[in-house]
Amino acid sequence: MSAPWKLFRNLKKKLFGKTPPKPDAIPKTPSAPPKTTPQITDSSPSLQERKDPYFIQIGFDFGTSYSKCICRDVMTNKAWVYIDPQSQEQELPFLIPSALAMGNNKIFHIQDSNIHYPENGLYHLKTALVLAANRQLSNPSLVAYRNAIKQNDANRLSEFVAGCGVYFLAGVLGQVRDQIRERFPGFGSLPKDYMAINLAIPVEDAQHPEINKLYSRIISDAWEFADQLSGHPPVSLADLQSLRRKNITTNGPCFIYPEVSANVQGFVRSRASSPGIYLLSDTGGSTVDQSVFIFMRQNNEEHLTYLAGRVLPLGSSRIECRAAEKCGKTDCMFLEDLREKKERGEDVSELREAKYWISKELNLETECTIALSKGKLFRKEQLNSIKVIFGGGGYCKYPYKTAVMKPFSGQLFSEALHPDVIGMPVPSDLELKGHEAKWMRRLNVAYGLSFEKNELVPFTYPSDVSDPKPDEISRPLKPTNHAPTKDEC
Ligand SMILES: Nc1ncnc2c1ncn2[C@@H]1O[C@H](COP(=O)(O)OP(=O)(O)OP(=O)(O)O)[C@@H](O)[C@H]1O
Ligand SMILES: [Mg+2]
Repeated sequence: MSAPWKLFRNLKKKLFGKTPPKPDAIPKTPSAPPKTTPQITDSSPSLQERKDPYFIQIGFDFGTSYSKCICRDVMTNKAWVYIDPQSQEQELPFLIPSALAMGNNKIFHIQDSNIHYPENGLYHLKTALVLAANRQLSNPSLVAYRNAIKQNDANRLSEFVAGCGVYFLAGVLGQVRDQIRERFPGFGSLPKDYMAINLAIPVEDAQHPEINKLYSRIISDAWEFADQLSGHPPVSLADLQSLRRKNITTNGPCFIYPEVSANVQGFVRSRASSPGIYLLSDTGGSTVDQSVFIFMRQNNEEHLTYLAGRVLPLGSSRIECRAAEKCGKTDCMFLEDLREKKERGEDVSELREAKYWISKELNLETECTIALSKGKLFRKEQLNSIKVIFGGGGYCKYPYKTAVMKPFSGQLFSEALHPDVIGMPVPSDLELKGHEAKWMRRLNVAYGLSFEKNELVPFTYPSDVSDPKPDEISRPLKPTNHAPTKDEC
């Protein structure tokens, strides 16, 4: 257990008693938060009086299209959504575009959330980082990165992609940290004042050492350079190279954890959620992240057992990218036009084939997710009570909902099943005004990441849940790491 956490756990105990409060146990703040960066001047002691250090946990959902960020005052368990000062007038002001671009030999950040495919753009950075970590450097998705450095050298290319990752994250984190200092005047005046960051990566990638290593490195470099790069001042290629530290011994306040675990934290921590078996399907820009989990609550303690956790390369941007490839026109303007048509739900011929393809693939993959989960259950009929939760900005009825629901009427079930589709609860510890509750579908991952890592609901990975043996299926003896049965839920 980390030293700062021990200190803050003890302080929390002092303030709140033996068990730190759960989100739902904390009274709501009576007044709605103001739109500009609020300061906690009324409730916070003056600089001279303050004895207890601050501990702010940043939860950062690094998305392919948009990043999202939620910060939490760990001491009081109150969380708020980070909003870039320049995005306040946008319809969804919490979305931070994850794209960069090159101009005048400098790299800069794309601020406008309506632009996904900028001219000379370095977009889908998250995908580029995974390709770089896997040394898949001739992949067509890296063309823009290769063109930017005008070189084919594999090492230079992977360093460049990593540098872009550091630049993007550092520029945003710098602003997040500035806002935290504004909100908590005098932050840093006590030596134990502390900020930490949790970043999510897809579960399969989290188990892949090279990807894990690269992410750990870029987040700790970004944390280091955050004040310097706050707000993304344009940088030259040479500047970008200098953003890498040579010797990293520790990740300090930076922590990485699987996206699926982050995604369900809000759900399992809510008093409104009932124990049971769930399929969560999150449609992002590049991937659909699916997990099937059994949620148990006993003596007020929650536990998650994952039966399956899968990352499918069938995210929403695949629709316009595939359609553009089929048309033989992959320039930025054409991609942007297709994306806009897709988001408006226009039924145009260019997109039709791509959606149909996604629907077929996702149908098969979801069937596979369900089959894998069924394989982990002693009592297969447990699956009959499954409920479905959808998330992500790319979610829409066709192809995503229809493809996920179809396998429930397929060969895995003796009778067609019509599982309930339930919404994610709106957490009571998060500052959101009435109409902002609908943001939650996009914010689940960032919300889950805003908890101090020692406070996360414990979970068991799919790979650690054993498949029952044939004789155990007919005579259910329980191994240590078995999937809980319905009676145990
Ligand atoms: N109204 C809409 N209809 C369909 N798709 C949409 C709509 N609005 C946004 N999208 C798509 O949602 C995607 C962005 O969703 P989200 O913010 O959840 O992705 P992300 O978190 O950046 O990606 P990932 O989780 O894969 O890294 C984009 O591909 C965008 O085109
Ligand atoms: Mg996402």
